Amino acid sequence: MPARIGVIGVGTFGLNHLRAFRQLGYVGSAQLVAAADLNDQLLEERQAEFGMKAYTDYREMIEQENLDAVTIVTPDPLHHDIAITCAEAGLHILCEKPLDVTPDGCQEMIDAAARNNVLLQVDFHKRFDEFHREMKRRLDLGEFGTIQYGYAHMEDRIEVPRDWFPGWAQRSSPAWFLGIHFYDLALWWLGAAGKTVYATGQKGKLSSLGVDTLDSVQAKVQFDTGATVCFDTSWILPDGFEAIVNQGIRLVGTEGLIECDSQDRGTVTCSTRYEQEKRGMMTHNPSFLREITDRRGRQIFEGYGITSIADFAENVNLLLEGTKLDELAPYPSGLDGLRATQVAYAVHESLDRGTVITI
Ligand SMILES: NC(=O)c1ccc[n+]([C@@H]2O[C@H](COP(=O)([O-])OP(=O)(O)OC[C@H]3O[C@@H](n4cnc5c(N)ncnc54)[C@H](O)[C@@H]3O)[C@@H](O)[C@H]2O)c1
Repeated sequence: MPARIGVIGVGTFGLNHLRAFRQLGYVGSAQLVAAADLNDQLLEERQAEFGMKAYTDYREMIEQENLDAVTIVTPDPLHHDIAITCAEAGLHILCEKPLDVTPDGCQEMIDAAARNNVLLQVDFHKRFDEFHREMKRRLDLGEFGTIQYGYAHMEDRIEVPRDWFPGWAQRSSPAWFLGIHFYDLALWWLGAAGKTVYATGQKGKLSSLGVDTLDSVQAKVQFDTGATVCFDTSWILPDGFEAIVNQGIRLVGTEGLIECDSQDRGTVTCSTRYEQEKRGMMTHNPSFLREITDRRGRQIFEGYGITSIADFAENVNLLLEGTKLDELAPYPSGLDGLRATQVAYAVHESLDRGTVITI
């Protein structure tokens, strides 16, 4: 039997988890058994769409449903306690990024998973972007020699902190919400750990709108390989910007360079049907999510936003068949989650103290 899965948190991104597990159910690769959320009205809407059992208390869900695994899609600061409870209940875990907002918290989650012999995977889905995978393959072949420096940016339209989750944006930041993706990507590509961080940040735009959080964060990270990468992040792009997100990365090495526009994959649209303020040319990233209808008329989503979740389900199925944790093919692990959090945490320490931080 495929993995019996429960989703904890069915908000903006939890929807994507529900979609992934529903369609994995069509092909017998997972069972979307239940979901939990504190917001009972939202839960009811999701239940009407996806047909799973619904709980307002995730503890009750894990007591009642004989699950194999859960995915945690709650606000960042809540991942830690939920993950530890689920690990103690013997459940495999896919946790949204960041794993936790402190390195100590990440370590506690890793320890709880190890103690209970359960999988702890982090949804760093940028590792599943086919363009990024190809770059990793070429980097590993040594095509660009030793990487010396690089640059990454990730910027959201202002609607994300202003309209999507104003309730917890003040407990997050461009570094936690966006930077963490590219910190992890650089760590993975370079096969490195972070060594030192110096960061600067700005406030003003969002706080003037009543959302008390940083607008933008710039971090220069030196890795233990000697490479340095500058990460520019913000979530104040105008409502009229061509996409919900703008993102990309480039690395320069002794034998060459590699660049990726991680947003604009060449599809451009313009339509009178878009909301007034978003009219104009739009670029898209169909690599992340695209919708199709299958032969049976069912709505299916494809893209790395789904693949990374499906990868977790596949890992759980392998474990249920008897594969050992240390026999699984590489996946974004708790340790990877810790390493990315170490960088993000040091970014904030540097912002607070105005100095270079050693990780
Ligand atoms: N991988 C990605 O690209 C990506 C994209 C967006 C968000 N995220 C991550 O996903 C997580 C959720 O983000 P979001 O945008 O969906 O936030 P959201 O606020 O839209 O949804 C969070 C949901 O969790 C629920 N919740 C809170 N406490 C709970 C609890 N104790 N038990 C059950 N449910 C609880 C809330 O009611 C809410 O519905 C965050 O960690 C975020 O960083 C990841």
